[in-house]
Amino acid sequence: MPYRIDLRIIDPQEAADALDRLVDLGALDVESLDGGIAAIMPDGIVASSVARALGLGLDDVRVTPARGRDNDSVWMLNPRPVQAGRLRIVPAEWPPHTDAGALRMIDSPAFGTGLHPTTVLCLEALDDELTAWNPDSVLDVGTGSGVLALAALQWGVTRAVAIDIDAAAVRAAAENARLNGLSSRLHLVHGGLEALSGSWPLVLANVLAAPLMEMAPTLVWRVGRGGRLVLSGIRSSLAPEVEQAYRHVGVRQVRALVRDGWTALILHAAR
Ligand SMILES: C[S@@+](CC[C@H](N)C(=O)[O-])C[C@H]1O[C@@H](n2cnc3c(N)ncnc32)[C@H](O)[C@@H]1O
Repeated sequence: MPYRIDLRIIDPQEAADALDRLVDLGALDVESLDGGIAAIMPDGIVASSVARALGLGLDDVRVTPARGRDNDSVWMLNPRPVQAGRLRIVPAEWPPHTDAGALRMIDSPAFGTGLHPTTVLCLEALDDELTAWNPDSVLDVGTGSGVLALAALQWGVTRAVAIDIDAAAVRAAAENARLNGLSSRLHLVHGGLEALSGSWPLVLANVLAAPLMEMAPTLVWRVGRGGRLVLSGIRSSLAPEVEQAYRHVGVRQVRALVRDGWTALILHAAR
């Protein structure tokens, strides 16, 4: 696992050089602090080697666990603003009104910082859909931090239902909805598809390929006649299999979006 390393370096020039050196050594994130530097290092390089490369003694080095985000796919020291497609996300602790129109989000274990390609693909697909037509509601399956449902609401969709099997994700999404004044338009459900009845004109599901294929017969019931379904979380090599699973249950692919080896499928339910 990547780890956090704090280095005591007083001299500003030495600190600037050390920042560059840490990047050369493969740091996943670096930050200047008062009297030193913090970095997240990959586990391939041990702390003693980092200290030696920077000419520091072990007394000047402190190692602590790093905090992974988006299921340990994203490593950063502190939350920071994220541009995910058209959506700007800022940390909850930023003073309100500093970034008008941005979505404010807490730092939580829930997936959905906006940094993962599968989230960005969903946001891009959502943006395209909302530019082309006006669904009055969306269903967000596997909402994590709530990022997709909250983006839909912020972009003018009237109501959203968001579900997640992880109670901590539902709590994070609720807090994010509250922070952004969107709670009254978001209905959060702790559970899977079995907890739902009804259908939605637009359904978003950023879950992995295997569960997406497994849930195809159930998920398709939640898409209204003529509605759209956005599937993400699919490794590009598995996209044809996922597409086939959904073709079997009567939805056809309209298009696909690809980013960093991940594919999102945009599908159309029969009228
Ligand atoms: C990859 S994250 C997506 C989070 C967010 N929607 C995004 O796009 O960044 C997948 C989420 O789906 C949830 N999940 C996995 N299987 C699920 C299921 N069968 N029903 C509902 N939620 C599920 C996980 O707990 C996780 O929070």
